[in-house]
Amino acid sequence: MEKIKGFVSEIRNFGNLSFIIIRNGYNNVQVTLIKKENEELFNIVKTLTKESVIEVIGEKKISNQAMNGFEIIPTEINILSLSKTPLPIDLSESINTGFDNRINNRFVDLRKEKVRSIFEIRSKFVKATVDFFDNNGFLNINTPKIVSGGVESGAELFKIDYFGRNAYLSQSPQVYKEMMIAAGFNKVYEIGTVFRAEKSNTTRHLTEFTGIDLEIAFIESEHDIISIIEKYFIHTFSYVKENCKKQFEILGIDLKVPTSLPVITMTELKLLLKERNKFLLPEDDLDPESEKMCSEISKEKFNSDFLVVLEYPFSVRPFYHMCKKENVTKSFDIIYNGVEIATGAQREHRVEVLKNQIISKGINPIDLNYYINMLSYGMPPHGGIGLGLDRIIALMLNLKNTKEATLFPRDPERLTP
Ligand code: 4AD
Ligand code: MG
Repeated sequence: MEKIKGFVSEIRNFGNLSFIIIRNGYNNVQVTLIKKENEELFNIVKTLTKESVIEVIGEKKISNQAMNGFEIIPTEINILSLSKTPLPIDLSESINTGFDNRINNRFVDLRKEKVRSIFEIRSKFVKATVDFFDNNGFLNINTPKIVSGGVESGAELFKIDYFGRNAYLSQSPQVYKEMMIAAGFNKVYEIGTVFRAEKSNTTRHLTEFTGIDLEIAFIESEHDIISIIEKYFIHTFSYVKENCKKQFEILGIDLKVPTSLPVITMTELKLLLKERNKFLLPEDDLDPESEKMCSEISKEKFNSDFLVVLEYPFSVRPFYHMCKKENVTKSFDIIYNGVEIATGAQREHRVEVLKNQIISKGINPIDLNYYINMLSYGMPPHGGIGLGLDRIIALMLNLKNTKEATLFPRDPERLTP
């Protein structure tokens, strides 16, 4: 006797014969009912609705016609939970339509193979991330998400009431990962929630996302960070490709594993952009259009989906990025399939230089006392990077919106589910 439990994904009635398809994960099992053999059970099927959860006890019979080559002839059917009809979303629809309605009913949407596959790949990607950092001597850390301020210029803070005082949701673990370097740990990383009060409704912005952040002591330059992150991407991409074959097949993705991360300076890049009629000033940041063009350039020039852009101007970077000369920082972004997925830099660890940088950003050094203090009792030269997990997964899987790679996304309009 077999016992099968799962969701009813299909009910087909042919007068004297009916089939129920029970879905459990990716497994589908056919239950075959013949009226004249068991009329009572046959009538139960008439009351069943799609997506109900049932338990079937019966005999397994080899059958060429049934999916997986066998069917279950039931002796008992128990309805564990009857589903309401109609369903709030059509489970057969393509994953890229009716987005809002899908997210409103995310727990039903997640029953689709394609949607489920995204999160199984994401889960394995996180496992590969943890393995990589663990095998390379990194300390796993968890830092506060309720904070008194932030250091990422441009990224706005969510204000919260903290027992009558103003507090904020953390926009980056930046200060804390650097504090761990000041504490004498050479390599630290965190996978944690990052909050950004950016009122932008784009396909790349979430107000709450998962950041993968790391910080390394005693680096010679930002290139030490790039070289670690190159190994990281080779490892994580190879790992998911190898361990999520079925999921990639369901999504129709033939994942390209990087063999290296090509680099280009901002000045070189802006010249190439100019050739494509995209004109940016030396002090300009890359806008979404230029990031898109970066990927075309990288595909043509380096046969790569990745591009590391070096030497961002200080004018578009936070105060703590180290400068190598006037308005040129030792910082970089990683662009993957046309979108920024990471920002990294060597940090300015010399207190006096840092104070000047703070002042030149128009910030009062007193407001950053806690940061200056952290550098004041012995601080190794150091640097790090912050990666956006949701964006990496969305771009890897060619999803139209970063929110597709987030279970329960948050944007300026959405607070539920
Ligand atoms: O570029 P960001 O703001 O850099 C930092 O937070 C620095 N502390 C990192 C460092 O160590 N220097 O954020 C890092 C990454 C971005 O490249 C992007 O992938 C992701 O986080 N990210 C977002 N993802 C989704 N929605 C948003 N609103 C995001 N903002 C940043
Ligand atoms: Mg950035």
